[in-house]
Amino acid sequence: DEEDIMRLDKFLSDMNMGTRTELKRDIREGAVQVNGEKITDPGFMVNENDEIIFAFLSVPYFRYEYYMLNKPAGVITATEDRYQKTVLDFFGERRRKDLSPVGRLDKDTVGLLLVTNDGGFHHRLLSPKKHIDKEYYARIDGRVDEADREKFEKGIYVDEIFTALPAKLMIDGYRENALESDFMDLANSRAPKSALENGVSEIRVVVQEGKFHQIKRMFHALGKEVIYLKRIRIGSIVLDPTLEEGTYRRLTAGEVAALEKNGHM
Ligand code: URA
Repeated sequence: DEEDIMRLDKFLSDMNMGTRTELKRDIREGAVQVNGEKITDPGFMVNENDEIIFAFLSVPYFRYEYYMLNKPAGVITATEDRYQKTVLDFFGERRRKDLSPVGRLDKDTVGLLLVTNDGGFHHRLLSPKKHIDKEYYARIDGRVDEADREKFEKGIYVDEIFTALPAKLMIDGYRENALESDFMDLANSRAPKSALENGVSEIRVVVQEGKFHQIKRMFHALGKEVIYLKRIRIGSIVLDPTLEEGTYRRLTAGEVAALEKNGHM
């Protein structure tokens, strides 16, 4: 297992102990010990097995961080953007600079997004061979019926280059009275307001692929439009219902291990 060798100020900033500027000052002022010795050079090289004490507290090193974010609408899945708010903006200034989102949700899609600095995890999770379930809750303009469910089960022809693999569709209900609040990202929505006349179906769908606009395109191919889309599960990881939109929490060790296994508990 390769060892990370890094500057002392980077070690502490990776562990969220402060900004690089603050930490350089703290180190110079003598707040830090390495393996029992006071070190005042912020550029002193350490590794993850060194015993670092900062302000009398031991700071163990975690190479990898894994989070679930409840993504709101109107935010793009990217690491940085000059003009638009990105999902990493929720992690604040002090975040590790190597964090990035796993996969992508559309700007108007909400819900479960995993964020990590473990590049191998991205790769292992997104590999199509893994067949990891992605479950979405959606509202559809008009009535979704049993015939639609059977088409999802058979695999929907979307266009010449994309036929979706068989997917599980669950029809949770239908309401004749659609509300303005049934639509996602109202300000930017391209959703047809005809749902206000046609009523709204609530469904869940489980796919194992992650093609661009996959769920919207599958419904569109059946002549129906998604008006709200929320990812609620990836493999064994269920979106924590206590997480408000725009907030995140660390994955537990158990959640990471279960995903690593094969996406299932
Ligand atoms: N399918 C979509 O259409 N959009 C998403 O963001 C995710 C899945």
